[in-house]
Amino acid sequence: MSRRSADVAKRDAGYHAADMVKDGMIVGLGTGSTAYHAMVRLSARVREEEISVAGVPTSHQTAMRARELGIPLTTLDEHPGLDLAIDGADQVDPSLRLVKGRGAALTREKVVACAAGRLVIVADPGKVVQALSGVVPVEVIPFAATPIMQTLSRMGGAPRVREGKAKDGPVITDNGNFLIDCDFDVIPDPEGLEATLTAIPGVVECGLFCRYTGKTTLVVGEEGGCRVIEGKRA
Ligand code: A5P
Repeated sequence: MSRRSADVAKRDAGYHAADMVKDGMIVGLGTGSTAYHAMVRLSARVREEEISVAGVPTSHQTAMRARELGIPLTTLDEHPGLDLAIDGADQVDPSLRLVKGRGAALTREKVVACAAGRLVIVADPGKVVQALSGVVPVEVIPFAATPIMQTLSRMGGAPRVREGKAKDGPVITDNGNFLIDCDFDVIPDPEGLEATLTAIPGVVECGLFCRYTGKTTLVVGEEGGCRVIEGKRA
């Protein structure tokens, strides 16, 4: 898929998801380029007074973009339960399990996904995979980074502290932590790996999202329209 087609697919998926938002909803606002398209469409609907909504952003970037777009913001303190969250993904498998965290926002994204009644994942077809594999981002407190790296190596991963692009040294997440990108190659048991990773002392969260499939709607932008897949409730 060309870069342009992927961009069009992201836009179509984002717009479709934004059109699922109803008046009065409290909406989780994901991070990344696909979620941004949803925010653009949401902002137009708010501006045209078709709906009134408030959003909980999953990152500083999303909060800044929402302010620019005129989407009213709120917090989980004000609204611990969200009607719906719209977010992107790096990979999504046929059971709607996800890998997230390319943009380093995985912890807040998971908190928001957990708080939402419905999780709408927006994606271009390149994100849809038969089996999750490769890099799983793991957010860790800096104090514990070295022992966690050792543990991840013993688990068969190839861990690397994520480095900044326009900053020397490690990426610091919105929560003040480090990110370890851990390449597991194949991931035969995503649920088990998620549970194991999040049980390591000092790990804040990992980029595997396996627990929300029952409330997930996947929207894939495709030529001729969006493909919408509903997760199966357990
Ligand atoms: C942010 O940390 C990520 O989880 C993003 O949601 C994910 O990488 C998708 O981003 P794009 O929509 O930009 O591909």
